[in-house]
Amino acid sequence: MKRLFMQEVATRDGFQNEKNFIQTEDKISLINELSQCGYAKIEVTSFTSPKAIPALRDAEAVMAGIARQPGVEYTVLVPNVRGAGRALGCGIDEANLVMSVSEPHNHSNLRMTREQSFTQLKDVVAVIGSGPVAVNVSLSTVFGCPMQGDVPSADVLRFVERFAALGVRGVTLCDTTGMAYPSQVEALSRQVLEHFPNLQVTLHFHNTRGMALANTLAALAAGVNRFDASLGGLGGCPYAPGASGNVCTEDLVHMLELMGYDTGMDLHRVLAASARLPGLIGHDTPSQILRAGRRLDLHPIPEHVHTLTKQMTNIELERAQ
Ligand code: COA
Ligand code: ZN
Repeated sequence: MKRLFMQEVATRDGFQNEKNFIQTEDKISLINELSQCGYAKIEVTSFTSPKAIPALRDAEAVMAGIARQPGVEYTVLVPNVRGAGRALGCGIDEANLVMSVSEPHNHSNLRMTREQSFTQLKDVVAVIGSGPVAVNVSLSTVFGCPMQGDVPSADVLRFVERFAALGVRGVTLCDTTGMAYPSQVEALSRQVLEHFPNLQVTLHFHNTRGMALANTLAALAAGVNRFDASLGGLGGCPYAPGASGNVCTEDLVHMLELMGYDTGMDLHRVLAASARLPGLIGHDTPSQILRAGRRLDLHPIPEHVHTLTKQMTNIELERAQ
């Protein structure tokens, strides 16, 4: 059974996009519940400017309040050196750096050119150093940008290479606004895995155009074994027009387990955590499995069907006599 590694992003990618502020104690209790679900990593929060992302202005308090589960890595988004300092003070396991491979999205999200971002992130890598904290770089819009259109895979490979040269542990290929399609995903994933066999490679899909599960299958075919997903399918980038939810954790785990993959996850617990979300965020989520149930969650046979079946059996018996 092939082992896959699941990484939860709802409390960062999901909550950053919610209009209502989610109370710090609610965030903490949800993360504590998620810590029991079997994730390899949980992206807890983000150390960005509280003016840019007010929903996550309580990052320090959330990190201080959670109960860490051995075996689960706690990662946080870090946009700059200032964020790195704040995050390192909270005992993170990993810093997840972010920049966009498309120039206009990088401007819109981070208010600087790609080169300026790279220079800043290089400083962040230096600040984190070679101590116990790992560095991952999330590259946004690698499968397309809502402002630029197609993003050349040569640009993606060039940035992966530059970060690999800085010694980062991993990169995440992010389909920020759901522009990826399966054949493209398979081709780019193969290229990245082939050229960078020592990098931890994560795929990060949004279901904006309904292709997230199909894209996951394409990435699996290329050999990817690590996926970001969001409880209930929450998520979206506030700086990308038309962005919407990440691939839904429970929908993804449900499919992968039916196919015989070992995700390490406890789907029961994931569903219980997902069922709490509407109460926390004040609206429904796009989760399919929460709504429909798992494939073999059977329903009782209605009484009239029982009666009909009995009648049919009697008729058949009479005929046979
Ligand atoms: N933590 C806390 N505050 C921060 C900060 C950080 N990591 N980085 C910057 N700030 C504050 C500065 O102190 C300054 O505050 P002030 O206006 O009170 O003086 C303000 O934010 C602007 O700082 P500046 O250095 O000029 O940065 P900027 O305006 O160019 O913004 C980012 C850069 C990256 C901080 C900002 O664009 C950002 O946080 N964007 C959101 C990115 C994001 O998380 N997107 C979604 C996920 S992909
Ligand atoms: Zn995302």
